Amino acid sequence: MTEFPLKEFASIKTPFYYYDKKLLVATLDAIKKASPEAEYHVHYAIKANANPEILKYICEAGFGVDCVSEGEIRAALNAGFPASGIVFAGVGKSDSEIDFALDNDIACFNVESLPELQLIEEMAADKSKIANVALRVNPDIDAHTHHYITTGLEENKFGIDLKMLDEAIAYCAKQPSLRLIGLHFHIGSQILTLEPFKVLCDRINQLVDKYKDQGIHFESINVGGGLGVDYDNPDANPIPDFKSYFDIFRTNLKLEQGMQLHFELGRSIVAQCGSLITKVLYVKEGLKKKFVIVDAGMTDLIRPALYQAHHKIQNLTSKYTENGVYDVVGPICESSDCFGTDETLPITQRGDLLAIRSAGAYGEIMASQYNCRALPGSVFN
Ligand code: LLP
Repeated sequence: MTEFPLKEFASIKTPFYYYDKKLLVATLDAIKKASPEAEYHVHYAIKANANPEILKYICEAGFGVDCVSEGEIRAALNAGFPASGIVFAGVGKSDSEIDFALDNDIACFNVESLPELQLIEEMAADKSKIANVALRVNPDIDAHTHHYITTGLEENKFGIDLKMLDEAIAYCAKQPSLRLIGLHFHIGSQILTLEPFKVLCDRINQLVDKYKDQGIHFESINVGGGLGVDYDNPDANPIPDFKSYFDIFRTNLKLEQGMQLHFELGRSIVAQCGSLITKVLYVKEGLKKKFVIVDAGMTDLIRPALYQAHHKIQNLTSKYTENGVYDVVGPICESSDCFGTDETLPITQRGDLLAIRSAGAYGEIMASQYNCRALPGSVFN
């Protein structure tokens, strides 16, 4: 359970992100314990949080990284991750990003289209290099998550359509500057049941068998990320059930001899260790509602405004045991700048500190300066 060092908080300018180092380390240990196989490789999806201090711990744990931009590759390299553990995904890799990735000899490009494959081939040939590529397949699987964060359906922009896979594989076989190492998948994020991962395993088995019959063997399968966290009960479930997650692959995915299995976990590694700490500016009585107006806004944590996500809100300093019911809102000039409606909190007053929990993933990294606001700081304990 995360404990908040309130004495220390008193002198820190709000809003800021607070990260529980102990929980992060315990989460990383739980992942390692649940996936001891030498052929299982976890790459941290750095898009979830690229705070250098967070990266330091994940790097020390020996994980690889999943990047989607030159900036992310640079952040990973600066944090000490070896290039040999970096995979590079994304539907719109620019020429200069591909150039940078080739120069740095990253482990693999997760390629999302035929034109991208052609460009990587041309650029690698110009440098007399051989680029390792995995083809990102759009497996057309419904992950039953928010439609903004589902990625594996036919209508999504991600990956190569199953029907075009033969053509992409044939293309790779003809190009000396490309080495096709495997297939890549990612079906969505904040997936709360394991069933979609089982369906993914079945789909992968079918594909691997199909290509094996044609004499094509893959040395790497990358199943992406997506494991969800319990936003309602961060203290009861601080560490996701990694054992059951890896068991799904252990039980359902047929790993051929020598095949390596890669995972790209983001949210499940960092969400629960982070909280956004914010101060109550005003408690405003409306005709129908009481508003708690805090100094953090959608600029600091956009998930509620963007995905209608709900993060548990906790009053860390109320002196009261009786409760009140409040809408907790930020200072930004948008109605969607709201962290919670009809929240039951201990009676809340100006100056109280609130923790908006489970904000370690897609929180600080998605902060903006809209309304010319300063970016939130970060504190580790
Ligand atoms: N691999 C690929 C190719 C991805 O696109 C993503 C996330 C991941 C791995 C990591 O997925 P995770 O394990 O974190 O679910 N901003 C949204 C989430 C967007 C996820 C995008 N892709 C949110 O705040 O919910």
